Amino acid sequence: MTQTLSPDEGGIAQAVAILRQEALVAFPTETVYGLGGDARSDRAVAGIYAAKGRPSFNPLIVHLPDLSAVERIADLGPNARKLAEAFWPGPLTLVLPLRKDAGLSALVTAGLQTVAVRVPAHPLAQQLLRAFGGPVAAPSANPSGRVSPTTAAHVLDGLSGRIAAVLDGGACQVGLESSIVLADPDPYLLRPGGIPAETIESLLGRPVGTLQAEGKPTAPGQLASHYAPVAALRLNATDAREGEVLVGFGPVQGDLSLSPSGDLVEAAARLFGLLREADRLAGPGGRIAFAPVPDAGLGRAINDRLRRAAAPRQG
Ligand code: TXA
Ligand code: MG
Repeated sequence: MTQTLSPDEGGIAQAVAILRQEALVAFPTETVYGLGGDARSDRAVAGIYAAKGRPSFNPLIVHLPDLSAVERIADLGPNARKLAEAFWPGPLTLVLPLRKDAGLSALVTAGLQTVAVRVPAHPLAQQLLRAFGGPVAAPSANPSGRVSPTTAAHVLDGLSGRIAAVLDGGACQVGLESSIVLADPDPYLLRPGGIPAETIESLLGRPVGTLQAEGKPTAPGQLASHYAPVAALRLNATDAREGEVLVGFGPVQGDLSLSPSGDLVEAAARLFGLLREADRLAGPGGRIAFAPVPDAGLGRAINDRLRRAAAPRQG
């Protein structure tokens, strides 16, 4: 049985007790719900991979309450420090050199010399991390290859019976995963996300590369087909073809809409919930079409997720 914990002191205390037992608790962040386990514990981290059905070569993000806690497990170069000071707490993940004395389970980093770290802003995530007092490994709380959860109900949909509990904090505000940046010596955006690339570039005062553009692998485990709903997906649709559920944006009205007013912040927050809803409406073997979304600001992360959802399924 997976318990639902209430967003109060009692719920936080139960979540902390679960983490101390090296068991798993899903918790809200401002991006998406994370599936948390003690990052120092092989048992907890192996449990995360098992609950998600995740290929173990795909490393996890470690969550900490503030920059000084991050500095105990990783080294920050000059660009990383600038970004951390500007965007933490918030939807930014930094890939940093791992300190030898970090004390993390080697499973968290899948054996890499770097670690992905994030300081989430969500008040419940902050309370949980401070009360637990240790690093929490947390991938998105969905079965591997499925749409990320932005409500506690989404978490239960995919992981009920496979994890101890979910801390219910309502809907996530940002709705898209964090932007992942490898900052030093030269900055690369490994995954577009909650902080627009343009915002990162203007803070650093220089362009930020994308490893994809150079044909190199991006973040390990950035499989082409991810966030896949069950129904087939067609992008850049301006109207619905026979039998399709159309998800609109701005002027393109659909059966559902990411944002009738064409607001990218609203569209990001609604994206994963609407993917689920469209999938349900389309039914088995059904088809979904998505209206075009401008490829700037948060739109770049939205289009990244839509392209992955539309890509042919892998393994
Ligand atoms: O918003 C988020 O980032 C959410 C919340 C829960 O924090 N988490 C999340 O985690 O999206 P996950 O596991 O679904 O995605 C983590 C990504 C993966 O693509 C992984 O390959 C990459 O981070 N990653 C982790 N460690 C890395 C490393 N050392 N170097 C490069 N990429 C890394
Ligand atoms: Mg994920």
